[in-house]
Order: sequence, then structure tokens, then C-alpha cells
Amino acid sequence: MQTVHTVHALREVVATARAAGQRIGFVPTMGALHEGHLSLIRAARAACDLVVISVFVNPTQFNEAADLAAYPRDPARDADLAAGAGADLLFLPEVEEMYPDGFATTISVRGVSEPFEGAQRGATHFDGVATVVAKLLIAVGPDAAYFGQKDAQQVAVVTRLVLDLGLPVEIVAVPTMREPDGLAMSSRNTRLAPTDRHQALALKAGLDAVATALAEGADPRSAERAGVAVMRERGVDPEYLDVVNPATFAPAEGTNTPTLVVTAARVGPVRLLDNLLIPPTTLISEKNV
Ligand code: PAF
Repeated sequence: MQTVHTVHALREVVATARAAGQRIGFVPTMGALHEGHLSLIRAARAACDLVVISVFVNPTQFNEAADLAAYPRDPARDADLAAGAGADLLFLPEVEEMYPDGFATTISVRGVSEPFEGAQRGATHFDGVATVVAKLLIAVGPDAAYFGQKDAQQVAVVTRLVLDLGLPVEIVAVPTMREPDGLAMSSRNTRLAPTDRHQALALKAGLDAVATALAEGADPRSAERAGVAVMRERGVDPEYLDVVNPATFAPAEGTNTPTLVVTAARVGPVRLLDNLLIPPTTLISEKNV
């Protein structure tokens, strides 16, 4: 696997591949790679000729300096894991490469970015994500970009972004990887103490309870209440547990499918997210090409 640090070098490699008629797949990450990221690389590997991965801890999407400072960084380990999963090219820029002196542009995706994670983390979070993802997509120019369904609202924001800007890229959402007991994989799980780790299973239990209630004919609001009760029984108070439209994140009315159940909760020192698509889809893909 080749590593490049500048957009100029990145474009040279991608241009050569494109001239040879290759399909380009792109996996944007902030590093600290785990099995969830590797599943994105493998999905890109299966469908593309050149697989590009970026590792960039994007400062503009953090609203707390301490969180940014504490974010795990180990580029050598990330490079080994990415290469092992089948990546061909690693883009590893410095902050100055992505945000040159005088940088003054922000991309803000209204609507879908505002509730849930937008409300919890502040508007700057999804503005930072949208801005860096747009820059990365413009720099790489991939045919397809791969995102984890675990960050479902991010997928919806990025999908809206590429539709609105007319970026010629297919957005592929890859299903969430789970531990054998159901916990969604996340870089943050490593910060869970053993008792927290057990309590963290409340998120999946809450989602499953909502899915069961919906399958039994409950309306979305009653199903949400059933799920909240299950989480509280397990000692976890959700910040939210809602049934939404997966594209807009507006509250789902009725039981029309597809539907997305989203939740977030603090467990010990860690804020965890999870979601469930109903019906479960193996791979969601939005083509804009
Ligand atoms: O999901 C992430 O790791 C980040 O939000 C992303 C998409 C790489 C943008 O920095």
C-alpha cells in the first residue's frame, strides 16, 4: 500500500488509475481503525479496482478541544490494518493540507443535520463533517464512497450533501459490525470498564424492543416508549430513542418502511450511538451518477 500526504500526490495516483479505466473506491476515516472500518475497506475492495482510504482526525467536527486531544492516533497501526484489509492507497494529510491558512468555507447541510446528534453535539459537528467530506470527495474523486451505517445520521447528511452539490459519487452505507453479544463496534468501546461494557448492551436491547413493538403493530411513539423502558430497566437512560425516516431524520409517522430506530446514551464515561434499520437492509446505496 502506498501512502501520500498531499492532495497533489493523491490526485496523481488516482488519475493514473482512472486513465487505466479503474473504478475508484474511497473510505474516509479518522483512524483508530477497528473491525467496523475494515468492513468498509473490504466492501470497497470487493467492488472497486483502486481502494483509497484517508486517515485524518478532522478538528472542525469536534466541539470540545479535550475530545480532539484525546482522540487516539496511531497512523502506523492504521496503515498496517488498512493494507491487510485490501486498501491500495492511504491519504494521510496534515491539518495544514486540509485547512490551509485563511480557510474560510463551511458547508452546512440544513434539516437532516439538526436533530439528534446535531442538537447534542452542536451545529459545528455536522458542518465540520460535511466540509471535510466534501473536500475529501473533491480531492479523491471516487466512483463510490463507503460509510458505516452505525453513524446513520452522518450517512444521511453526506447523502444529502452529494445530492445537493451534484457530486458524481455513489454513497454506500455498510451495515454495522457487532460484537458477538450485539454491541455495535466503536473506537469508544475500548474506554468502557467491564461493568459499563455489560450495561452498554442496553442500547441494542432498546432498539430490539422498539422493533418488536413495531412488528406487533404499535405506533412509533408507543414503540419508542417500550424501548426506553427496556433501556431504563438495564440502568441506562437514553438521550434519545426515536423512530425516524432514514433519509430526513424526521419522526416516522405510521409504520411505513423503511424506518430507522436511532439511539444514543452515556454509559460510564462514554457516549454511545446505535441504530436499527427496519427492515434490515444488507447494503444501502445512493447513486448520484
Ligand atoms: O466517520 C468518521 O470517521 C468521520 O466523521 C469522517 C466521515 C471520516 C469525516 O471526518
